[in-house]
Amino acid sequence: ADEGMWFLMFIERLNHRDMQKQGLQLTAEEIYSINNNSLKDAIVQFGGGCTAEIISDQGLVLTNHHCGYGNIAQLSTPENDHLTNGFWAKNKSEELKPDNLKVRFFVRMDDVSKRILGTVNEKMSEADREKAINREIAKIEKENSENGKYVVSVRSFFQGNEYYYFVYQDYQDVRLVGTPPDMIGRFGGDTDNWEWPRHTGDFSMFRVYADKDGNPADYSTNNVPLKPKHHLPISLKGYKLNDFAMILGYPGRTNRWMPAQGVAQNIDYAYPAWVEASKVGMDNIKKYQEQNQKVNIDYASKFAGLANYWKNRDGMIVALKEHQTVAKKSKLEAKFNKWANKKANKAEYGDVIKNLNDYYAKTNLDARHNNYLAILMRSAALASAPYRLGKSIENYADANDAKRAEMLPQIEAMIEAIYGKMHLPLEKDVLAAQLNLYASKGAEAGLSPYVAELAKGNGNDFTSFVEEAVSRSFFADAAQVKNFLISPDVEVLKKDPLYILSSSLVERQAKKTEEQAQLEEVYAKNFRLLVKGLRESKIGDILYPDANSTLRLTYGSIQALPKSLNPNRQPDAPANYYTTMEGVVAKHKAGDAEFENPKRLLELAAAKDYGRYADKDGYMPINFLSNNDITGGNSGSPVMNGKGELIGLAFDGNIEAMAGDVIFDPKLQRTISVDIRYVLWVVDKYAGATNIIDELTIVE
Ligand code: ARG
Repeated sequence: ADEGMWFLMFIERLNHRDMQKQGLQLTAEEIYSINNNSLKDAIVQFGGGCTAEIISDQGLVLTNHHCGYGNIAQLSTPENDHLTNGFWAKNKSEELKPDNLKVRFFVRMDDVSKRILGTVNEKMSEADREKAINREIAKIEKENSENGKYVVSVRSFFQGNEYYYFVYQDYQDVRLVGTPPDMIGRFGGDTDNWEWPRHTGDFSMFRVYADKDGNPADYSTNNVPLKPKHHLPISLKGYKLNDFAMILGYPGRTNRWMPAQGVAQNIDYAYPAWVEASKVGMDNIKKYQEQNQKVNIDYASKFAGLANYWKNRDGMIVALKEHQTVAKKSKLEAKFNKWANKKANKAEYGDVIKNLNDYYAKTNLDARHNNYLAILMRSAALASAPYRLGKSIENYADANDAKRAEMLPQIEAMIEAIYGKMHLPLEKDVLAAQLNLYASKGAEAGLSPYVAELAKGNGNDFTSFVEEAVSRSFFADAAQVKNFLISPDVEVLKKDPLYILSSSLVERQAKKTEEQAQLEEVYAKNFRLLVKGLRESKIGDILYPDANSTLRLTYGSIQALPKSLNPNRQPDAPANYYTTMEGVVAKHKAGDAEFENPKRLLELAAAKDYGRYADKDGYMPINFLSNNDITGGNSGSPVMNGKGELIGLAFDGNIEAMAGDVIFDPKLQRTISVDIRYVLWVVDKYAGATNIIDELTIVE
């Protein structure tokens, strides 16, 4: 149990009996069925990077606050600050439509390994192999899309040893229904992020709309709430230690199969660069956020994203070292290498370990460079946007009048997305600071040629370059870009300093030398063989493929963490598998940006006004732990009891288990979830949004 991110189509065969033994009361068909409505029909991928669940027969969607965060921020202004104040639609007409949000339903999946691998053979070069596979993938996607009704995605598993296709249906009219204020939804802020004990009301609510026939439709006031095939009933009964708990969701990425030297490369080269560059971005953003509430709102989501993985990667470096993950993996690989060099295996597997080690040794400096550059691009809008926008403008300039009329609204939307909330002084500082860092730390692997040229003259201080480039570039603000569109001149575009910089950085990201391309082929082939051999020899004991943003189920039970684990953070419950309102109140700090509670919450807590949401032992439950195997992307996933009833939603993992994406540690790895009873207490008692409560199917 606990370890494993399982495919729904194999639950019957691989897991169902074990799940039953642990407390599952549903049949495998009730979890995943192609022909009948099942649990999987209530699970959606939310906004591309999170998970959510349908919790009413009117398409009500529940996810984390941090998943809805970007959309809530986009709908907020200093005058109407839903992020700070919270928001509750009293009826459907008050719901708010964010600019860009879709949810994705999972229709079915199937194994196409034989079909795809039937088109390749071991004599092919990796490039030819990839071509043949992509041709077959395109056919499979076309055959199953029903003329565009569905999105079909074929994905590789076990490093190219198996292939499955997934059929999805996307809905693009999704509206904000309710969110608690930041003080509840982000309680504990970045200090508590990735930590246990925890006291966060990390949830928000949306609604899916469809046309009158239930089909996906662009936003329209004629659309109606979607009637889902299934919605999750909600249990107010709670749980106790060792109770069965399962999670369905979309884990983004794990590296459980990663070779030892790959882990070493991450620890020594990739992650330190990621951490350092993220901090530089964060510090320069924070400086401006503190001065101005509009900037604070407009950059809230970007800052939270950088901070989240800054702490994650830093935690990973520490945890992977502490676990001696590289040594453990090396030991396994030594065993494999022995097997691989037996006579019968040598031809296929003999050089696999040597080739992989060779690959990593030769790419360490690239890994460092690429991470500095990636975070530069992610944190500095003036580094990434001018190239993207410039390419569109180039096409626009070349187009005839009819085509231009068609393109203009798209370009205008792009301009709005880039500049609508941009704060230029902040962006200048972020860009200069990131260029300084990149030029000084990435040089060993070869900088973008333009940056390298500039660095020669400025000694890695890009402050005046940025000042000057921004003053001369028409990419400095929306008005100038729009003005340029009136009579676009590609020659002028090509001389624009920010366009030149941005192009050079993007091209450097995409650039592969002949040697690198060859190295990557060797890597792909040998990693595929390693996984094949580890499975064939049974030296590897992992039975499930790495996460790759496809729907998985993980099951286990409610489990505590040792109280001694984190001496600085004392649990507030006798058994360290849940937290209570007492803990929320104990952490309260008036005036603090992370630990202040709303007055109303404190009053209700003082009166112990918990209604039917209190545990039968009298306390108000806030967050809890289970030993389920999740990672980023699972955020917002439903935690269900043995009957498939919702008991909470997953929102985090604990810092001590940050090695978990590479090695699952049953002693330390926990999922942190918000108790559904706290969610409903906030909706009902705190916010008085009884219209939402009335929609739900509640089991008492
Ligand atoms: N660590 C969580 C995750 O990646 C996100 C938590 C967001 N909350 C916060 N305070 N930054 O799933």
